[in-house]
Amino acid sequence: MKQSAKQDEYDLAYHIRPPKGLLNDPNGLIQYKGVYHVFYQWNQQDTTHQTKSWGHVSSKDLIHWETHPPALEPVDWFDRNGCYSGSAVEADGKLYLFYTGNVRGEDGSRTSYQCMAVSEDGVHFEKKGPLFEQPPGYTGHVRDPKVWQDAEGIWWMILGAQREDLSGDCIVYHSQNLIDWDYDGPLIVERPKLGYMWECPDLCLFAEKDIFVFSPQGMDVLGDEFQNFYQTGYITGQFKANGKFEWDKESVFKELDRGFEFYAPQTFIDDTGRRILLGWLGVMDPAVEAAVPTRKDGWLHALTFPREIIMEEGRLKQRPVKEIAQMRKPVSIASQSSTTQTIVLPSLQSELQIQWKEAAEEMKLEIRKAVQIAYSSADQRLIVSRTNWLSKEIEERAVHLQNGLHSLQLLIESSLLELFINDGEEVFSLRYFVEDENEKNIKWAETAIDSRETTLYQLD
Ligand code: FRU
Repeated sequence: MKQSAKQDEYDLAYHIRPPKGLLNDPNGLIQYKGVYHVFYQWNQQDTTHQTKSWGHVSSKDLIHWETHPPALEPVDWFDRNGCYSGSAVEADGKLYLFYTGNVRGEDGSRTSYQCMAVSEDGVHFEKKGPLFEQPPGYTGHVRDPKVWQDAEGIWWMILGAQREDLSGDCIVYHSQNLIDWDYDGPLIVERPKLGYMWECPDLCLFAEKDIFVFSPQGMDVLGDEFQNFYQTGYITGQFKANGKFEWDKESVFKELDRGFEFYAPQTFIDDTGRRILLGWLGVMDPAVEAAVPTRKDGWLHALTFPREIIMEEGRLKQRPVKEIAQMRKPVSIASQSSTTQTIVLPSLQSELQIQWKEAAEEMKLEIRKAVQIAYSSADQRLIVSRTNWLSKEIEERAVHLQNGLHSLQLLIESSLLELFINDGEEVFSLRYFVEDENEKNIKWAETAIDSRETTLYQLD
C-alpha cells in the first residue's frame, strides 16, 4: 500500500488506503501462515458506495503492506450487487472467507446470501456460493458474518440483522465443518433496543469478561454520545456454550472510539495471542463523504492503524500495535516559551506523546491549526474540535475523563489523526484537511505548558 499510494497532498504513509476508489469496512482479518492479511470493502470504479469487492493487502509486520489482486469480485448471481463484509478463518491449512452476497431486485428489494470462498495460497480465492437460507422473522438486511472456532472445535458465526419489526439484532449459527450450519436464534435473549439495524458484529472473548462489538444504525444523540451518523460500540457480558451472549444488563453501550470517523471495526487473534483491531476511518454520511477533499485525487477513506485491544481491570484499552516502534525516529523538541510550546513536526507522519507527572490541569493542543484538543480538570472534559469540510463550521466531540488526563498519544498523518488517551482508555479517530493555501505548509503543534514530558517521533 505504501508503495502503490499515489503522491497527493492528503496521501497517507502508514495507514491502509485504497489506491483509487472508495474503501469502507476492514474484512477477513487474519494471520495466515505467518502473514497478516487485511481485506477491505472496495469500490474500484469510483468514490461511491457501489459495486463492492474485497480489496486485499498483506504484511509480515503490520507496517509494510503488499497489494494483491481483489480477493472477491461481485460477478456471480449470489453477490452481483456487492461482495459485502465478512471474516476469515484457517482450517486444514486453507484460508476460508465468509462474506455476504448482496442482491438487489428490480423493485429495490434486497436478498442477502451468506457465502464462502476458499484459498490454498492466501491470494487466489475460489467462491463456493451461498451456505444457507436466512431465517424467518428478518428482513433482507442480514449480513457481515464473523466466524471463529471455540476450544471444543465448534465453529460459530454471528450476523448483523434487522428484524421484521425494523429493530436491530444479531443472530447465531454453528457448524462442525464450516459447510453445514445450524441456526441458534438471536445472540442475546433480551437484547438492548438500539437502532433499526446492527452491522458488523464481533465478539471479543477475554479472560475477565467478553465484549460484543457492533455497529447499530439509527441511535439518537445523547449528550456527548452517539454524535456520528452511525455508531460503533460494545456491551460487556459472557458468551456461553449454548451460543448466547449473557450481557451485563447494567453495562451501557459504550462507543469504541469517540472521534468523527470510526465505524465497522473487526478484530482477530494473531499467532502471539494478541487481539488486534482495525476499523474503518470513515462513517457513512452521504453529504459529508461526498465533500471529502481526497475525492479530487480519486480515492476516499482509510483504515485505522492496527490496534491491540486488551481488557485491563475491567476496562477496555486500545493501543497502536507495538510494531509502530519500528517506524520511530526520535526528534528533539526545541522552541518553548513560558506559556506555550511550539513543536515543529519533523514530517506529516509523526507521533507525539505527552505524559503528565500528575494529572493534567489545563491542556490545549493545536495540530497544524486544523485540530484542537482541549482539557480542563475543572469539568474533566476532553474536547476535540475541527472544521467540518462541508459546513466549514467548527464541530466537536468530547468525553468525560473520570480519572483525569494522564497521557496522550497522537498518530499524525497529512490528513488523519488517531488520539489515544490515558494509555488507550479512550480513542478519537478523525480526518482533517488543511484547505487554505496559506496554511498548507504548517507543520507544527502548539501546546500550553504545564508539568509533563513530551516525546516526538518521525514515523518512517
Ligand atoms: C458497514 C456496511 C456493512 C456491509 C458493507 C457494505 O459499513 O454497511 O454492513 O456489509 O458496509 O459495503
